[in-house]
Parts: sequence; structure tokens; C-alpha cells
Amino acid sequence: MSQFAELKYGDKIYQLPVLVGSENEVALDISKLRDDTGLITLDIGYKNTGATKSAITFIDGETGILRYRGYPIEQLAEHSNFMEVSYLLIYGELPTESQLEAFTNSITRRTLVHENIKKFLDAYPSDVHPMGVLLAVVSSLSSFYPNSLNPNRKPEEVDRTIHRLIAKTATIAAWTYKKSMGHPYMYPNNKLDYVSNFLNMMFGMRTEDYQTDPVVVDALNKLLILHADHEQNCSASTVRIVGSSKANIYSAVASGIAALWGPLHGGANQEVIEMLELIKADGGNTKKYIEKAKDKNDNFRLMGFGHRVYKNFDPRAKIIKTACDSVLNKLGIHDEVLDIAKELEEAALNDPYFIERKLYPNVDFYSGIIYRAIGIPTNMFTVMFALGRLPGWIAQWKEMRESNEPIGRPRQLYVGEPLRDYVSIAKR
Ligand code: CMC
Repeated sequence: MSQFAELKYGDKIYQLPVLVGSENEVALDISKLRDDTGLITLDIGYKNTGATKSAITFIDGETGILRYRGYPIEQLAEHSNFMEVSYLLIYGELPTESQLEAFTNSITRRTLVHENIKKFLDAYPSDVHPMGVLLAVVSSLSSFYPNSLNPNRKPEEVDRTIHRLIAKTATIAAWTYKKSMGHPYMYPNNKLDYVSNFLNMMFGMRTEDYQTDPVVVDALNKLLILHADHEQNCSASTVRIVGSSKANIYSAVASGIAALWGPLHGGANQEVIEMLELIKADGGNTKKYIEKAKDKNDNFRLMGFGHRVYKNFDPRAKIIKTACDSVLNKLGIHDEVLDIAKELEEAALNDPYFIERKLYPNVDFYSGIIYRAIGIPTNMFTVMFALGRLPGWIAQWKEMRESNEPIGRPRQLYVGEPLRDYVSIAKR
């Protein structure tokens, strides 16, 4: 196949390089387009724009494939754990035993947060949304570790910051929950693995008494792995673009948390449960809500359905649906909301509106039901997503910095007023 595509514009023909990725994906390199032709490309919402070359995550939305560093998500979710997957995403390869031990120890050693952070938390109203607190406190870590502001730090210093960020975000996330409950903050227990420690900080009142349930630890590891990266999504792109100005990693990740919060992105998991609860309270009439979702005059959308990239199925949703059944069974929970979710899914998958638009359940459709089953309150769901996505954001930030990407700065097509003269207020 030709390694160039031709563009005819005016009376000239321009050759644009065609690049081929490692999975034979093809991209038109338009980086010199404006210099050569005066044209820019217009692609609102970046629906068809590759913003970078990346070796972290591969998605084939048409066939429902998701791989981290080449490894299928199904294998990682089944056999790995969140710490190992975090290492894989950030450093590019599966760790050896000693590498994983060093990585895990370095994170475990850093789980304590500065005591003054408690003062921030105390200052918030108790009904604050935990995502707002998480993003503010993660951003403020840069003030506690000012050395992170130096964009020219040595790689080992960057590593320390990365480990610190992973460690402290879990503590901060658990403490935002404690804050909302009005409970005392639970200090990290460094004898525990990452997930058990997080659960202990969430639910433990006294370290000695609280025992984590292996079913819950396993389910949470799976959920965090499934959320760990998703290539150039809204929040990862935000992290990369903020980081491209050489802003510190805490601020870049905090901006990713902000992007994730929106209901069209990570905030959807909270919206899904609220929607299912609404349908339940309304007598479980799923048909009515399918009709509402299809009605162009109604703002209602079926939350947890549809995806920018997946047009066949979301492989994460498949894994989560099975995990959901298994967790509820193992914990002996019957959740009516799960029945409604299944009925809604069945109805939507057989409806021409959803079939034609290739709308399938996404990762958020069933995750909330598991979170709920393991005791995590609804307004913490998006925080859980953030915790899972953290290694992905870090990997994206690191890749962007190590490849020396230029500052992200899109262009625009100006459609405002042409030049006009200022008129003083008295004459308007
Ligand atoms: N319910 C009803 N109709 C929908 C839905 C939905 N959930 N999603 C898309 N559509 C329709 C939309 O109205 C449009 O119809 P038409 O062609 O007649 O105008 C068509 O499908 C294409 O939708 P779009 O909004 O142009 O697609 P997009 O790629 O810009 O948006 C999306 C993708 C995920 C934002 C969207 O599907 C959505 O809002 N879903 C609900 C929110 C949600 O579950 N988000 C979580 C995404 S997965 C987690 C993550 O990675 O963030």
C-alpha cells in the first residue's frame, strides 16, 4: 500500500504521509498541512484525530479489543492484580518478582499523608462531593512536595513522585469518604496490600478488628484493573495536554480527575445507579425509560450505554457483568437493581434505535452494582474510577514527557465577527 495519500486543493496535489501502527492502524500525518497548504483540519470533539503516538493501550472498538502493553484485558483481569498492572502500564513490561516487590514497597512506604491535609478535609462541608475534594487535595500535594515543580528532575525523583501519588491518592480517597461520614480518619496499615489497605482505610474503625473479605479484595482488584487505562480518553488527553505545558504531575492528574468527574465520562457510574434506582422507584418500567432515551425532545440518556470508541461491545462491561453476578452470589446479596439493569440491557440490545447507533453497555453499566455490593456509597463511585485510572494517567503523562512532546495547542476555525470598531457605551 502507498505510504502517501494525495490531497488535491486548488490546482495543486499534496502528498500526505500515511503512518502505520503496530496493529496496522493507519493515520494520515497532517503535521505539515498548514505550512504546505494553509489549511488546518477541523474535527470537533477529536472524533477522528490521533493526538499522539502511544505504546500503552490498544483498543479496537469495532471488535471489542482492549490490551494494556499488548496483554489482553481479559487475562489481566483474571490473573493479575492492580499493583502489577500499574507497574506494567507505567514501566511498559510485566515486573519480575523483585521489581514488583520494590515497586509495592516504595508505594506502601508513602501512604501516609501530611497531617495538615486533615485540616483541608476538615474545612469542607460534610455533604461535599468527594470528587471535588479529591481533585483539590491531589492538586495541593504539589505544595507539600515542591520539588515536583521542577520539570527537569532526575528519573529516580520522578519515580518517587509517581509512587507517592499512587500511595497518597488511595489515602486521600478513603479519607474523603470518612469525612463525608463524619468518622475519624483511618491511618494506612503498611502490613496490608494496596487494595486491602484501601478497604481498611474506608471501612476499618480499628485496624485490629477489621478483616477484609477476599471476595471483595478480588472484586476490587478486578475493577481497578479494568479502569486502569483507556488510551486517549477525555481525562487522559487532559492529563497529557496539561502536562505538556510542563505543569507538575499532581496538577496534571488533578485536571484528569476534573475531566473524569463529568457524567459523560467517569461520572456515568454514579448516574447509572441513580438512573436504575429511579426506574425501580417508578415501578421498574424499563420500557418507559427506553422510550425516553430515544426521544430527541427528552434530555434523558441511558447512562452506561454508548461509547465513543466501542461500536460492538465494551470488553470491560462483559467482564464486569460476570464479576457482578459472581460477587453478589458470593456475598449472598440479591439486588433488585441488577434485575432492572439486565432487563434494560436486554430491551436496549433488541431495540433498532440502539442497534443502529451501535449503543452497548459500557464499563460503567454494571460497575456501580459491584461497588454498592461491597459497601461503597454512590457518590464515591467516580472516586473509585479515578483510583483505578491513576496508573493510566501516570503512564500517559510519563510517555508524553519522555517523548518530549511539544505543548498541546489545537487551532480553530474562527466564526465570530470580522473586524469592527469599538463604539463607546453612550453611543450604543
Ligand atoms: N442513550 C441514548 N442515546 C444515546 C446514548 C445513550 N446513552 N449515547 C449515544 N446516544 C445517541 C445520540 O443521541 C446520537 O443519536 P443521533 O445520531 O440520533 O443524534 C448517537 O447515539 C451518537 O451519540 P453521540 O453522543 O454523538 O456519541 P459520542 O461518541 O459523542 O458519545 C458517549 C459517547 C459515551 C458520551 C455517549 O454514548 C453517552 O452520553 N453515553 C452515556 C454516558 C456514559 O455512559 N458515559 C460513560 C462512557 S464509558 C466510561 C468512560 O470511559 O468514560
